[in-house]
Amino acid sequence: MNHCKKGFPKDFLWGGATAANQIEGGFDKGGKGLSTMDMVEFFPREKRSKGKILDLLSRKEIEKILENDLNDGNFPKRRGIDFYHRYKEDIKLFAEMGFKVLRLSISWPRIFPNGDDFEPNEEGLKFYDNVFSELAKYNIEPLVTLCHYEMPLNLVLKYGGWGNRRLIDFFSKYVEVVFDRYKNVVKYWLTFNEINLTTINPYIGAGILADEAKDKNIVYQALHHQFVASATAVKICHEINSEAQIGCMLARLENYPETCDPEDVMVALKDDQYNLFFSDVQSRGYYPGFIKRYFKENDISIVITPEDNELLANNTVDFISYSYYMTMLSSKKIDDEKKVNGNIFVGIKNPYLQNTDWGWQIDPIGLRISLNKLYDRYQKPLFIVENGLGAHDELEENLEIHDDYRIDYTKKHLHQMHEAICDGVEIMGYTSWGCIDLISASTSEMSKRYGFIYVDQDDFGKGSLNRYKKDSFYWYKKVIDSNGKDM
Ligand code: BG6
Repeated sequence: MNHCKKGFPKDFLWGGATAANQIEGGFDKGGKGLSTMDMVEFFPREKRSKGKILDLLSRKEIEKILENDLNDGNFPKRRGIDFYHRYKEDIKLFAEMGFKVLRLSISWPRIFPNGDDFEPNEEGLKFYDNVFSELAKYNIEPLVTLCHYEMPLNLVLKYGGWGNRRLIDFFSKYVEVVFDRYKNVVKYWLTFNEINLTTINPYIGAGILADEAKDKNIVYQALHHQFVASATAVKICHEINSEAQIGCMLARLENYPETCDPEDVMVALKDDQYNLFFSDVQSRGYYPGFIKRYFKENDISIVITPEDNELLANNTVDFISYSYYMTMLSSKKIDDEKKVNGNIFVGIKNPYLQNTDWGWQIDPIGLRISLNKLYDRYQKPLFIVENGLGAHDELEENLEIHDDYRIDYTKKHLHQMHEAICDGVEIMGYTSWGCIDLISASTSEMSKRYGFIYVDQDDFGKGSLNRYKKDSFYWYKKVIDSNGKDM
């Protein structure tokens, strides 16, 4: 037991996190164009085999979806939780919990419906004007992700997604518009959500269709274009507002060696390096040696110009943000028996850890380990922008939701985060993932709930959409009110 009483910094940013494609709905409202996520169907856990992470879509499949009536099928991300119409009510609830920050993303196709439009969509810009002014009313800082797992579908079908270098220009134009429009109301920005998804699910990460996704050269070229686009965003952001801070966003995965066999330890080191390669480029400004070796040994050859290298080196991020949900084991021997699913990862089960209802391994100490490791490596402020428990919740007859398991999960993680602060790690804030129930990214389920606020909607879009406070709502409010002292 430790006795560190340091406490959280007084300006610690407590809050919650969301993404446009998982909450907004209104997929065809206000001039918004179709997004890559509007094509993703309900894909429940039961249908998902071990080792299968999200869907890849082919051109044929998308064309088939587009031939149908857009009301056909079950595409939950098109409806979200109707934040598009209910943002005032939701922000009021966040304010009641005492949020200092709300992480949300701007839907790129709401601003540039086709991605290559000449002018932005004014109605889309107005929607975020309204959201930001509602947040300002309660002194809640927006933390805005520029690209959270979605892009205009047209950029995929017409240009081949991020595999095409022209995407850097389209993205730069989009970010310049939003940095300029919101320069007085948004101080914290993130470029690409979980940029490492690009190599895991190239469709969702980078708009690469199923056939092209088999070609590693296309995938890593797309990733490189995103790195360049991210550095360009950092540059434009600083030029437009020198006070603004902009970070990268990584899905962090700690990998422990399965045994103390040096070969397992080496596999764990390699897995770790591979996970950190993405933040290395964005934070240090260059491709590390180990990844160059990986490219060589895997016959990956991509185009990187001297200008790209200069841009990456001169425009590194101000802070590192990441999602933390689980840890896994690394081993020289991987067989299917040992495998376990995670958010965007598949790995090996750790016998010391328990799983969530969706099989994700719960490891609060791993959060402290990751905070220490990342701070040791980068010496830049860190921001936990996702962490939370996806679980089945029950709305009781008296309209209460008793989610003590979520309180327990969050408390243990916050405790470890505080330990990391005592270790000397600089942490800007914590935004709990899915602070209001939303559509799951990986399965499009509604029944996988993360929120402190319950949303009455089922997997098929049925329900009143009424919002109800869970027990965790009152608990988190207390945590924020006491700046983490009262857990
Ligand atoms: C992260 C994503 O990987 O995990 C979120 O950034 C996502 O968009 C979250 O929702 C939880 O994953 P899931 O699949 O349970 O929604």
